[in-house]
Amino acid sequence: MERCPGPAHQRLSDRLMLLVLDGRLVLGATVPSERDLAAALGVSRTTVGTAYRTLVEEGYLATRERARATVRLPDDDKHVPTPRRTPTAIDLSFAAPQAPGEILHAAFVSALEKLPRHYERHGYDRYGIEELRDAVVRWYERRGLPTSRDSILVTSGAQHALALLARTMLAPRDRVVIDHPTYPHVITTLVAQQVRLVPVGLTAVGWDVEQLQTAGKSAKLAYLIPDFHNPTGLCMSRAVRQQLELACPTIVDETMVDICLDGAPPVPFALAQPDAISIGSVSKAFGEGCGSAGSGRPGASGAGRPTSSRPGSGNTGGRAARDRDPLGWRIHESARSHRSAAGATRHPRPRAG
Ligand SMILES: Cc1ncc(COP(=O)(O)O)c(C=O)c1O
Repeated sequence: MERCPGPAHQRLSDRLMLLVLDGRLVLGATVPSERDLAAALGVSRTTVGTAYRTLVEEGYLATRERARATVRLPDDDKHVPTPRRTPTAIDLSFAAPQAPGEILHAAFVSALEKLPRHYERHGYDRYGIEELRDAVVRWYERRGLPTSRDSILVTSGAQHALALLARTMLAPRDRVVIDHPTYPHVITTLVAQQVRLVPVGLTAVGWDVEQLQTAGKSAKLAYLIPDFHNPTGLCMSRAVRQQLELACPTIVDETMVDICLDGAPPVPFALAQPDAISIGSVSKAFGEGCGSAGSGRPGASGAGRPTSSRPGSGNTGGRAARDRDPLGWRIHESARSHRSAAGATRHPRPRAG
């Protein structure tokens, strides 16, 4: 450990905490024994033991009897004090601005008034209410990406979209390319799917096209956060968006795109890569917990449509069930062709412009 102020155990616990927060120590991972870590770092076992105890107290390590401690995140309600909102204070502990209370309230009141018109139907809408999908279409169009309602699926948040995609597109031991570091909850979602993560490190200036393409050759899927990347804040350049040509389907998480503070917002990734599956959320733009997300292939002409002639039938589990397209969504056809072509299928070349 390099020399920094403070006792060695505190420097160690601070460093480990940072590794957990930026996703380099995966949630659920078992930490080394006190003896092994002390030997590897050339410090005493007391130093490691004290650092581990601090992490347990702060909620970053979970302990069980006769088992090694595992990495966890602190329970928000217990450990993060609710910030006091004042006009001059900005809470930097959350990557989201304050919810616009009055606007949100008015929107909910207006939505409630419109609700009765949906009572006459059964209430199940696999792809989301049409008005909402049309609103998502207009959002993409305002960003310069023409799309259609049929390419949009509404979920109750970006995490919901990610979980659906992971469950339907991946099988245990599949390889998934992720940014390194990345949004920690996506790691949890993917680990639950028992896939193998292939992290590709971000450099100080952003994404390494060559490394991503190499990693993509043997992967079933890639998950990238090109806009105001969580946790680094980096934004993928237009040149990289155009150069990148991954051999596997790509999910782009655009949850952060609406929190652009200055300058022009980044162009949609799917403009250069029409086959990308884009997911988004209003939880950053309007307030956490509002949760609607558009998920689909807005850039693909006619692709990503829900195939209404094939009702969902995914209750039996396993790859066969996945192949029957439980979402009734054409992303599966793309996933299947990638599977059967054993990595040889490539995405169409990016469009110019
Ligand atoms: C990159 C990224 N994706 C998804 C989410 C979660 O979005 P939602 O609240 O819509 O599930 C977050 C929240 O921090 C995020 O940073």
